[in-house]
Amino acid sequence: MNAARNFPVVDGQISVGGVPLFQYVEQNGGSPLYIYSRDLIDKRVSLLRKHLPDAVHLSYAIKANPMPDVVKFMAERVDGFDIASAGELKTVLQAPMPVDNISFAGPGKTDMELRQALEAGVTVNLESAGELERLVLQGEQTGCRPRVAIRVNPDFELKGSGMRMGGGAKPFGVDADQVPGLLRRLADLDLDFQGFHIFTGSQNLRADLVTEAQGKVVDLALSLAEQAPSPIQLLNLGGGFGIPYFPGDEPLDLAAVGAGMAPLVKKISAAHPAARIVVELGRYLVGEAGLYVTRVVDRKQSRGKTFLVTDGGLHHHLAASGNFGQILRRNYPVAVGNRMAEAATETVTVVGCLCTPLDILADGVDLPRAEVGDLIVVFQSGAYGPTASPSAFLGHAAPAEYLV
Ligand SMILES: Cc1ncc(COP(=O)(O)O)c(C=O)c1O
Repeated sequence: MNAARNFPVVDGQISVGGVPLFQYVEQNGGSPLYIYSRDLIDKRVSLLRKHLPDAVHLSYAIKANPMPDVVKFMAERVDGFDIASAGELKTVLQAPMPVDNISFAGPGKTDMELRQALEAGVTVNLESAGELERLVLQGEQTGCRPRVAIRVNPDFELKGSGMRMGGGAKPFGVDADQVPGLLRRLADLDLDFQGFHIFTGSQNLRADLVTEAQGKVVDLALSLAEQAPSPIQLLNLGGGFGIPYFPGDEPLDLAAVGAGMAPLVKKISAAHPAARIVVELGRYLVGEAGLYVTRVVDRKQSRGKTFLVTDGGLHHHLAASGNFGQILRRNYPVAVGNRMAEAATETVTVVGCLCTPLDILADGVDLPRAEVGDLIVVFQSGAYGPTASPSAFLGHAAPAEYLV
């Protein structure tokens, strides 16, 4: 994997959108900052359109990167959005996306959130029987007809995933064996039943495992659909497409995923010609398009180890510090962004400015010698960056974000 290859280097300095890194820092009045590349997002969407069957709709899970500019940019490129809170609802309603193509998933939706979802007309992915009853009550109070899908917790998982979201006891979705009961309840209610949402896992790099899980998802959905009160209009197969973060990671073979989906799409369309088939992706769309840029504030030696102390850290980029769901801490790809033409000459540990041993951006990495003022770049940073980090911790300023 060579994450740096995605970004052009001019005179030894990474450049995004034709502008070198130092210029962003200057324009911003300092560092740290995140930079997201429109061009790389565009290329990623094109790759998906090229390899996935035409009938597959792309939904962007905005939790991966809810920066309003990114969401607006995405609105013109993908077919739908998935949201997880009233805050995200507000963000997507400001982007030009038809509400029919917006779904709201997540456990613990409050009555206020259900009401706002109803009033906006988005599809609520039901996480439990209790949530359905609360939604129905809100529907009666507002006079809005609920539009719903059932989020199913299958009895299998997406093997080899960084994060497993289905299989076993889970707070997400309705256990597959409880779904027939919920469908009977739906049949008694006046609401717009759309279909199913089955999200089995996240961050998977194995096309064969993604295809295997999708096959099981389709079989499960088709058998549940036989008990539905009306033909399904929507089948959200989940996502789970991963990106390479760590040494040894190989990119997902998207052509193989697409080939695996082709017969599944035929199978769904044969049984339910009106069903919109959706894959729901977050990091795969935006993760590789983003950089986190931070400046070296200090260089120091401690008992034989060289530390580069930066003005960034886990309060901006929890995932890169290894504290966002990773079991073993591994380094995200990093570089000295203004010394790309220089060879690595030393092994260093790059840390943030927080007074905690957790605040490591890269441990024991080989880099060209970096001086105070140089720019450390963390690649693969377009997803789960600022909004997945404890930005209030220790009272440092939030990082700036640029979509260029
Ligand atoms: C329901 C749901 N959809 C989409 C995603 C996005 O996952 P990813 O960014 O790995 O594609 C998640 C991640 O946890 C999720 O829970």
